[in-house]
Amino acid sequence: MKLLSLFLLLAIFNEAYCIHQYYTSIFSFGDSYADTGNFVIIGSQILSVFPINQPPYGETFFGRPTGRSSDGRLVIDFIAETLGLPFVPPSLAQDKNFSQGANFAVFGATTLDLAFFMQKNITSVPPINTSLNVQLEWFEKLKPSLCNTTEKCKEYFRKSLFFVGEFGGNDYNYLRQAKRSLAEARSYVPQIINTISMAIERLIQEGAVHLVVPGTVPSGCLPSVLTVFQSSNEGDYDPRTGCLKAFNALASYHNSMLRNAVQKLRCKYPHATIINADYYAPYIKFATEPRRFGFSNGALRACCGGGGPYNYNMSAFCALPGSSACQDPSTYVNWDGIHLTEASHSYIANSWLKGPYASPPILSRTH
Ligand SMILES: *[C@@H]1O[C@H](CO)[C@@H](O)[C@H](O)[C@H]1NC(C)=O
Ligand SMILES: *[C@@H]1O[C@H](CO)[C@@H](O)[C@H](O)[C@H]1NC(C)=O
Ligand SMILES: *[C@@H]1O[C@H](CO)[C@@H](O)[C@H](O)[C@H]1NC(C)=O
Ligand SMILES: *[C@@H]1O[C@H](CO)[C@@H](O)[C@H](O)[C@H]1NC(C)=O
Ligand SMILES: *[C@@H]1O[C@H](CO)[C@@H](O)[C@H](O)[C@H]1NC(C)=O
Repeated sequence: MKLLSLFLLLAIFNEAYCIHQYYTSIFSFGDSYADTGNFVIIGSQILSVFPINQPPYGETFFGRPTGRSSDGRLVIDFIAETLGLPFVPPSLAQDKNFSQGANFAVFGATTLDLAFFMQKNITSVPPINTSLNVQLEWFEKLKPSLCNTTEKCKEYFRKSLFFVGEFGGNDYNYLRQAKRSLAEARSYVPQIINTISMAIERLIQEGAVHLVVPGTVPSGCLPSVLTVFQSSNEGDYDPRTGCLKAFNALASYHNSMLRNAVQKLRCKYPHATIINADYYAPYIKFATEPRRFGFSNGALRACCGGGGPYNYNMSAFCALPGSSACQDPSTYVNWDGIHLTEASHSYIANSWLKGPYASPPILSRTH
């Protein structure tokens, strides 16, 4: 018995030791699901006050708004903690040491370039250049400060964990806000997946070997979508979850094409580990059996909002006058109608580290 527990202890110690040694940095690309402060840095040049830099954002963990779209830590924060790395600093921050990683993600970022939306006369997209390709340019610009020979860069990036996404949610969202049909949005999925796939290839060519590629959330379960696209036709809703079926079908289609693209890249680059990470399945699980995860207030009502059946009102968005936050965000899946609570992020991060919602799980490649 004693011997067994000693072995267990050694196994645990060993696991932690390997994890800490394995990854020496994290680089992340994405949107508000991953942004740890870039949008606030860009936005403060335009506006002084906007929701995500106001309380109650950040109240649960940081005790102040940090530019994260949640009450606390994001999935990437929990993963950095587990890997023994610091929270990944926003790449646009001045005077930061990025030797242990940089986060290029920006709230509202799209996969496709601003020019695509301008050409299509889709004016719901904010007129700032933060798309996936722009984030890759920022990475290229930062690179010389991290490593300065091909050899050194390969060696350095070989020990980095790269996150490419979540991307896509905003592309579809801006199209819908511009009153474009779901069918039109669906027609851009191949182009969106192709752009993500090319970004992964570019990073592999730079020396990335470990990449995590998150899919998109079931947008038909988001309080914002449930409010704006409320339907009187009961058949539009999934009876198991209460989510809007057509929106989830679009997200599902995106995710399955993304998985196929990742599979192709695995064949092309067998030396790389490309991980599919899933926001969709855990969200559906939360919506189906919320109490099993401690979400006694369910998945479809936001913790912070301006009232209504889903506690979402665009004119009284979380942190704006007329909104208020719930007592205990850990009993809610959704934080502000669009983003998740820290409690949801914690569960999802664990499921990406150890399974079952990442394939292969991130920690399966640290030994
Ligand atoms: C950045 O941090 C690393 C260790 O994390 C250190 O080795 C390096 O000297 C630092 N660079 C600068 C410019 O401070
Ligand atoms: C662009 O969209 C605006 C409104 O969204 C509309 O008034 C205008 O006619 C459109 N222009 C073109 C060229 O489609
Ligand atoms: C965005 O980038 C494009 C291409 O580089 C450029 O033409 C455009 O002026 C930029 N727009 C803004 C708002 O910065
Ligand atoms: C390359 O970077 C190292 C530190 O990482 C620095 O000591 C060296 O001077 C740099 N060399 C060049 C040519 O920039
Ligand atoms: C949404 O919020 C605005 C501003 O507080 C308020 O005037 C309006 O009545 C609210 N709408 C609903 C449907 O609650």
